[in-house]
Amino acid sequence: MSELQDFDHLFRLDGKVALVTGGSRGLGLHTATALLRAGAKKVIITARKAEGPQGIDQAVAKLNILPGLKGSAVGIPANVSSEAEIVRLVKEVEKVEGKLDILVANAGATWGSTFEDAPDHATTKILDLNVRGVFLLAQKFTPLLAASGTRQDPSRIIIVSSTAGINVPHVGENGTIMYSVSKAAAHHLGRNLAIELGPKNITTNIVAPGFFPSKLADGLIDKLGGTSELEEANPRKRLGKAEDIAGVMIYLCSSAGSYINGVDITVDGGMVLSRGRQSKL
Ligand SMILES: NC(=O)c1ccc[n+]([C@@H]2O[C@H](COP(=O)([O-])OP(=O)(O)OC[C@H]3O[C@@H](n4cnc5c(N)ncnc54)[C@H](OP(=O)(O)O)[C@@H]3O)[C@@H](O)[C@H]2O)c1
Repeated sequence: MSELQDFDHLFRLDGKVALVTGGSRGLGLHTATALLRAGAKKVIITARKAEGPQGIDQAVAKLNILPGLKGSAVGIPANVSSEAEIVRLVKEVEKVEGKLDILVANAGATWGSTFEDAPDHATTKILDLNVRGVFLLAQKFTPLLAASGTRQDPSRIIIVSSTAGINVPHVGENGTIMYSVSKAAAHHLGRNLAIELGPKNITTNIVAPGFFPSKLADGLIDKLGGTSELEEANPRKRLGKAEDIAGVMIYLCSSAGSYINGVDITVDGGMVLSRGRQSKL
């Protein structure tokens, strides 16, 4: 027999304070929900819009009526592709609980068009949010994260990248070349941060989802033939669902993941290894 210390809390997040960018909907909202349900004391979500059916306020309201929560959610609007906004966000996050244990850099943007038609403003938007913004988030939040991390229980940075950062998913009519490039950069940014920040008691890991229904993905899912066609092409015969993101996030953010640093975990049912179908366009 082995003495597994604190085994009952291996996948718990009690007392933790987390920030999830892009937490108002989609994968960010799945993540915020999971962190709270795993016991987090405070989950701060950020996005640009506060109001409306896709805004932060409705997400915070939904999170705070989840049954059995120990902690709560709060929202802080910010554009995480802007350095000034990130600097302001750091100050506001510090005011909430005086610390930050987990940063999930999830907000992302994409663009689909032919190679010839891809406008420069789309490239700028994608790189500013998916790469430059993630670097700035890590840089500006490092003092707070380093202050709460320890050798045994480091603070965590999770970068939400994409399988598009590993393969070449879409070229041609609905090509996503610069999105794919930005996500490859996000993967490599995560590896660099793992080595830079590991000694400061901060680990960095990358989550690379395949297709999950969301505002960002739904248009492309339709253009690729719809949900059932994509499900059929997937080795697991389905698309991703909220619980798939919840599981990997809780693993990476809890003590179960405390010695994992600089890895990328693909959450796509094995699709990235399967050739051909996704390049239908
Ligand atoms: N869904 C998929 O199939 C899939 C697959 C692979 C990777 N991913 C990645 O997963 C992440 C989340 O995607 P999703 O599908 O959940 O997208 P989504 O439903 O469109 O949600 C995007 C979130 O990011 C926020 N956001 C966008 N621009 C922002 C900015 N400049 N500053 C702050 N927040 C911003 C949005 O709120 P506001 O618009 O109000 O700012 C929203 O909360 C992205 O990084 C994406 O690349 C998704």
